Amino acid sequence: LGFPHRPSPHPTPAPQRAELLADPGFGRVFTDHVATATWTVDRGWHDAGVRAAEPLSLHPAAAVLHYAQEIFEGLKAYRQPDGSVALFRPALNAARFAHSARRLALPALPEAAFVDAVTALVRADQAWVPEPPASLYLRPFTVATEAFLGVRAAEEARFLVTASPAGPLFAGRDAGLTLWISDELSRAAPGGTGDAKCGGNYAAGLAAQAVARAHACDQVLFLDAREHRWLEESGTMNVLLVTADGELLTPPLGTILDGVTRRSVLELATDHGLVPVERPVSVDELRAGCLDGSITEVFATGTAAVISPIVTFRSAAGEFAVGAGTAGPRTLALRAELLDIQFGRVPDTRGWMVPL
Ligand code: COI
Repeated sequence: LGFPHRPSPHPTPAPQRAELLADPGFGRVFTDHVATATWTVDRGWHDAGVRAAEPLSLHPAAAVLHYAQEIFEGLKAYRQPDGSVALFRPALNAARFAHSARRLALPALPEAAFVDAVTALVRADQAWVPEPPASLYLRPFTVATEAFLGVRAAEEARFLVTASPAGPLFAGRDAGLTLWISDELSRAAPGGTGDAKCGGNYAAGLAAQAVARAHACDQVLFLDAREHRWLEESGTMNVLLVTADGELLTPPLGTILDGVTRRSVLELATDHGLVPVERPVSVDELRAGCLDGSITEVFATGTAAVISPIVTFRSAAGEFAVGAGTAGPRTLALRAELLDIQFGRVPDTRGWMVPL
């Protein structure tokens, strides 16, 4: 499946693009093109290419609009010191996208085609890749487009990648986030879609996020659905803890997203003198550890969030701080190393960066 480029007849004029790139915010500015491919049950994937970004035309009965048969991904393209552009571990996103497709009964795009699509789009819109610390956020997604109201896997779907120059997800919150521990609303249950990246998971998290905001918190920390006891993830991020005896602790996979940043940080841990440990962590252990100092730092990871320190937890039972209530040294060191790798400021010894 190739992605030939048909340039937009109306590209954004360079001065306007420069203005948008100067302060893009997160998720508000979009480039001139999309990558796309169509799937039908009888033809498979076809009609692939990079085209002008235009509004989609969907039948009002399109399955995605009714039954949320949709999956998505998030990855970034980074401007390198020599002016070139590189992607961070796109094969991991491709594999997770295929996993999500199987769970949502959508056609799985071949993983190589996923990387080709993203690469073709970034090549077409290379001028939209901002200077550090901003980057080009890429949002691949597949939606069920078949007009059919019976509930079954759609026989027509469309894959797209849209691109958005982006700054930080939590602008102005570098000092650290406050999380609301959600003891009523859950995100995912065993056997559910928690480990798939589908829109429905995020829609289901919005009410909990509103509760968090009402308590002046930045985000939610979800607990397991069965016992409301075990840490899961924070709506858009995985959660990791640093212990006083040198462990980098994080909840195991299962009902949470297999985050690319989560995985990368676990792989960087040993170089930072930390032992990566994936095991269930209870909210009681979190609270007790923060209070007695055996948990020294907590942070959240995500493509959009990068590595964001968490300095306070709040719940119906009250609140507690992590460490001194400021971003911890391990958090900052891991964040600095990850960003140095992504922006090509240190040698990529792990082969994580993929040049265009
Ligand atoms: C990401 O970090 O890529 C996400 O998908 C989180 C959010 C922006 C939905």
